[in-house]
Amino acid sequence: MDKPKKEKQFLGHPRGLLTLSMTEFWERFSYYGMRAILIYYMYYSVAKGGLGFSQPTALSIMSIYGSLVYLSSTIGGFISDRLLGARKTVFWGGILIMLGHIMLSLPAGSLALFGSIILIVLGTGLLKPNVSEMVGNLYSEKDLRRDSGFSIFVMGINFGSLLAPLVVTWFQAKYNFHVGFSLAAFGMAVGLIFYVIDGRKYINHKDNQAPDPISAAELRPLLSKIGIGLLVLAILLVGMAAMGALNVTNVISLITIFAVAIPIIYFWMMLRSKKVTKVERSRVWAYVPLFLAAVIFWAIEESGSSVLAVFAANQTQLNFAGFKILPGWFQMLNPLFILLYGPIFARLWVKMGDKQPSSPKKFASGLVFAGVSYLVMILPLMLSGISARVSPLWLVLSWAIVEIAEMLISPVGLSVTTKLAPKAFSSQMMSMWFLCDAAAQAINAQLVRFYTPGTEMAYFGIIGALTVVLGVLMFFIVPRIEKLMQGVN
Ligand code: PHE
Ligand code: ALA
Repeated sequence: MDKPKKEKQFLGHPRGLLTLSMTEFWERFSYYGMRAILIYYMYYSVAKGGLGFSQPTALSIMSIYGSLVYLSSTIGGFISDRLLGARKTVFWGGILIMLGHIMLSLPAGSLALFGSIILIVLGTGLLKPNVSEMVGNLYSEKDLRRDSGFSIFVMGINFGSLLAPLVVTWFQAKYNFHVGFSLAAFGMAVGLIFYVIDGRKYINHKDNQAPDPISAAELRPLLSKIGIGLLVLAILLVGMAAMGALNVTNVISLITIFAVAIPIIYFWMMLRSKKVTKVERSRVWAYVPLFLAAVIFWAIEESGSSVLAVFAANQTQLNFAGFKILPGWFQMLNPLFILLYGPIFARLWVKMGDKQPSSPKKFASGLVFAGVSYLVMILPLMLSGISARVSPLWLVLSWAIVEIAEMLISPVGLSVTTKLAPKAFSSQMMSMWFLCDAAAQAINAQLVRFYTPGTEMAYFGIIGALTVVLGVLMFFIVPRIEKLMQGVN
């Protein structure tokens, strides 16, 4: 096989794939390492090195934080497209993320926590959507290696997410929370160094510039729009303060409203736009039920780092088979199952070829699996009661099931999103995929408050059963969705 000598390769792909996969590996290492211990940091007592928040507040902050991290991807997309170009945007994102983790590594209490949240929300918004965009730019439109390139990139994400809870949790247990968070900062620093040095050589030069730089004429109206937005926000906050209602709970509720409203506005814009053709509009309509299904799925999936993490610490036997398990280690199960299932599903779809289920069918089955992953959590509570510690294998089972759902929704959703995008809105549609997760966690921020000692069974039971029912109902509308998709599958 002759390959052109010029292009350096990595596993038969452009060498830049290694640069970007490593960058994202370390970014996810820092994010999921931090998340694996953050919930405990917030609700553990001060004596145990925590901040002593109430458990429902900690759960709610965990969720709204997760929501903001993906909500901010819309800003990151804009800054890259119109101002800085992807390469610089990713760099500055990495810097903010690293500073955010450094802030948590200092023993500075809840002020440092909220400062760190702001930095990491902005940083991830700059970095995550654009590093994925850059992977796409390594390939030409017609390059057949594109999909497999993305699969390798996703492997990187999951290896980072797998390693981080292991080591960060271990350091936290051996020393303290702040040492754990420093390790997250260290990970992002390694990723940045790699990105800067390696990026000089292997990144598409297109990424050095903004593809659609903003013109001077556009700048003024934009600035005034931003100004009005900030003003409205300031009035809202001042109003809340004047009514004595400016507290964490209400700020979280305000963010929930935003995170749910933004995708609705996007849909409305696309459906109304004159730039969208009739066929495209039909495809946007088809995307509505898929989007809703994905939101419900992500709500359950993302509760792994909040609700299930609390279950792991409070209601699971941590001395198991002569082995001491740290609660943060359960966060490894999600990426572990993805890495195990990935090749199996890839082979399955290839084998089924044309006979594989359509995307809407995969989504409907995904919902059923997600619901079942919650329903199985009722069993240990029924068998041993709510005050006993149950076998850790129950959580393993729950994750084993929810990750089947993730295989049916996450990669499929990403690709169907791009395929259903109207031409004039292609980059906005990409953000829609991030907004699914953001809306899901915003809704979680309200739901998780109901997860308290004694309500576990109702929590898993009601949400699980509703999700299964919705999944089954979705099967009935699959033919209609398929029709609306106008040839996309
Ligand atoms: N685990 C996923 C990731 O880290 C979460 C995610 C899903 C993020 C969808 C954005 C969009 O990539
Ligand atoms: N499940 C997380 C993500 O999709 C780790 O990659």
